[in-house]
Amino acid sequence: MANPTLLILAGDGIGPEVMGQVVRIIDWFGDKRDLAFDVDHDLVGGAAYDKHGTPLHDDTMAKALAADAVLLGAVGGPKYDALDFSVKPERGLLRLRKEMDLFSNLRPAQCFDALADFSSLKKDLVAGLDIMIVRELTSGVYFGEPRGIFEEGNERVGINTQRYTESEIDRVARSAFELARRRGNKVCSMEKANVMESGILWREVVQKVHDEDYPDVELSHMYADNGAMQLVRAPKQFDVIVTDNLFGDILSDCAAMLTGSLGMLPSASLGAPNADGRPKALYEPVHGSAPDIAGQGKANPIACILSFAMALRYSFDQGDEAARLEKAVEQVLADGARTADLMGPEGGSPISTSEMGDAILAALDASL
Ligand code: IPM
Ligand code: MG
Repeated sequence: MANPTLLILAGDGIGPEVMGQVVRIIDWFGDKRDLAFDVDHDLVGGAAYDKHGTPLHDDTMAKALAADAVLLGAVGGPKYDALDFSVKPERGLLRLRKEMDLFSNLRPAQCFDALADFSSLKKDLVAGLDIMIVRELTSGVYFGEPRGIFEEGNERVGINTQRYTESEIDRVARSAFELARRRGNKVCSMEKANVMESGILWREVVQKVHDEDYPDVELSHMYADNGAMQLVRAPKQFDVIVTDNLFGDILSDCAAMLTGSLGMLPSASLGAPNADGRPKALYEPVHGSAPDIAGQGKANPIACILSFAMALRYSFDQGDEAARLEKAVEQVLADGARTADLMGPEGGSPISTSEMGDAILAALDASL
């Protein structure tokens, strides 16, 4: 059988550095676990703009649609701030999400024991935290029409539209209920049904999907502003949170920070399964391109490495190997390996991006 294919889009800023460590991990699974991938590399974001004048070339889009999974680093940087909106690095990422129809974005917020002290919250509020945010990723105010800046009388008006169809809500709700069944069996749905019609429909459809097909899962509803408050008040009350594109963007950053560092958190963006049951999929760290530290070997590669672990689990049905990689990461943290972002107030000497890669590879070897 042919090897599964991976398209790597390292992108901008620290993207290439952290992805460099992922490539070493991919090679390790090929050498030591007989899990070989055919890997191709291409450009996205500012890097693609510099070469092609567009943040995502059509050829790259075609490769992404054909690949078994896409691994993305990060996009953007101050160099591109002045660019026209239509060619900003972020547009490359949004095009991938939209054209691959990656409607279900899984953002785990997990607190590693070794890092519980890094949270801005008290340790007992976050120790053992394990939340999964399921963010709708291809609709809502990010894509709704009409949108734009228009003339109205003697001034301009900026317009974006929050728009959700029943089927869009239905499919993301299903993915949240499916996930919950494999975890703590609880879903909390967040919207603003008190002020938005799209929120009223969201609540109705989520409840209907639940009542018809997932009555065994515990479902609750919360207004998204209360949800933000509860996330910092008592985050462990949540198991799976399902919410729309914009609320999910905001709430997932909030949840991420509970764990102490954005440098730790992976994500998976999944579409509908194809004929052989494999969903279209893109995996990327939650953190951005961190231009301030790019090229210095300071970046933490763990979020990107854990994104590959999610690929093993959700695209390649290799849950045991994913767990092996996650355990290796946990082990090196327990042993005290720390990149600069994980230096507590007491300081210490951080290791480099590639030294973190070395440590994880050594832990993987030790796992055999
Ligand atoms: C995210 C990011 C993106 C978003 C940006 C880079 C377009 O913040 O993935 O959370 O807003 O979705
Ligand atoms: Mg965001």
